[in-house]
Amino acid sequence: MSKNIIITGGAGFIGSHVVRLFVNQYPEYTIINLDALTYAGNLENLKDVQDKPNYVFEKADIRDAEAIDALFAKYKPFGVIHLAAESHVDRSISNPTEFVMTNVVGTVNLLNAFRAHGDMKEGRFYHVSTDEVYGTLGDDGKFTENTPYSPNSPYSASKAASDHFVRAYHETYHMPMVLSNCSNNYGSHHFPEKLIPLMINNIRNNKPLPVYGKGDNVRDWLYVVDHARAIDAIFHRGKNGHTYNIGGNNEWKNIDLVKALCAIMDRKIGRPQGESEKLITYVTDRAGHDYRYAIDASKLMNELGWEPSVAFDEGFEKTIDWYLNNQEWLDHVTSGAYQGYYKDMYASR
Ligand code: NAD
Ligand code: TYD
Repeated sequence: MSKNIIITGGAGFIGSHVVRLFVNQYPEYTIINLDALTYAGNLENLKDVQDKPNYVFEKADIRDAEAIDALFAKYKPFGVIHLAAESHVDRSISNPTEFVMTNVVGTVNLLNAFRAHGDMKEGRFYHVSTDEVYGTLGDDGKFTENTPYSPNSPYSASKAASDHFVRAYHETYHMPMVLSNCSNNYGSHHFPEKLIPLMINNIRNNKPLPVYGKGDNVRDWLYVVDHARAIDAIFHRGKNGHTYNIGGNNEWKNIDLVKALCAIMDRKIGRPQGESEKLITYVTDRAGHDYRYAIDASKLMNELGWEPSVAFDEGFEKTIDWYLNNQEWLDHVTSGAYQGYYKDMYASR
């Protein structure tokens, strides 16, 4: 009998890449994509796998404990890969309670449902989390799996809380689990509220490029397909009860990244070099803005043999090409509610 794997948030940015990898590489599994299709979820992201025999979509909200229990009773999952979340730091600053409800209560609903109906012996509950739970770094050092949690934004606090619940269910109820904390992802299908796709969208529309503060904050960028490969390795071979850090060893100051993006965009859309850079506008900084994230991924590399497969130059070009070749996707996701969001977030900044 085929094993049922529930992937939550499979219609989102990272989730769609994880669903694609699992549907294509594991025909022996049935992959159930459980997603509420919020503003960030989009089934267009999965057009290429939607007709595969081992793929099922279930529209459900993880905040709804009864609905989640009923779905878990129906599928009796061998495993869960949990990605559904409110994921944007700026939105968490405007509306922290929504982040508690989805990221904390939603995760606990999934844990309870897995405990009641999932394979508590051989199976596995995998929580996909962020390096932001560790807080912020100065100019030196990297986060390891032993770095104490010190979240600074409502988003990272909600992810930290959900990480703690997953660990607590392992200790208290012996739930088989793994957890990973990953740095910033980039790639196709990334919602244009986040830095890279927002800047691509604004460059193509000749709109100001809003860089927070002085632009000297540092992020470590990993190609999303390499994150999905790491999730595959950890889900199948990670040690029960363990946490793994995932990162790209690829640190960029925001302003340098935006300038590099402008130069590539100028070349690709036939603008004179230096033209898009003129759109850069420094705006009021994000409240509680973490200065630097950097990841020590040596546990994952040494224990499970994972390493990034795509160099940044190559992944960045591929990403930009995807947006330029899929402008109808960008037009679709930036119509409607996005316009109101953009105005609220940036008009008076
Ligand atoms: P995303 O915002 O693009 O997608 C989130 C998905 O979750 C969407 O499909 C949305 O419809 C779904 N969702 C939201 N609320 C839901 C609810 N109440 N019930 C059911 N589904 C719901 O997010 P992403 O960037 O793909 O991130 C996925 C996961 O990875 C998140 O848990 C995030 O914390 C984590 N993560 C993200 C990054 C990153 O760089 N984007 C890095 C590390 C970890
Ligand atoms: P973001 O993509 O929101 O990811 P995170 O906050 O989870 O790291 O932001 C990446 C960096 O880019 C972060 O330092 C904030 C900055 N940023 C801007 O300068 N301007 C923007 O419009 C956005 C969305 C982000």
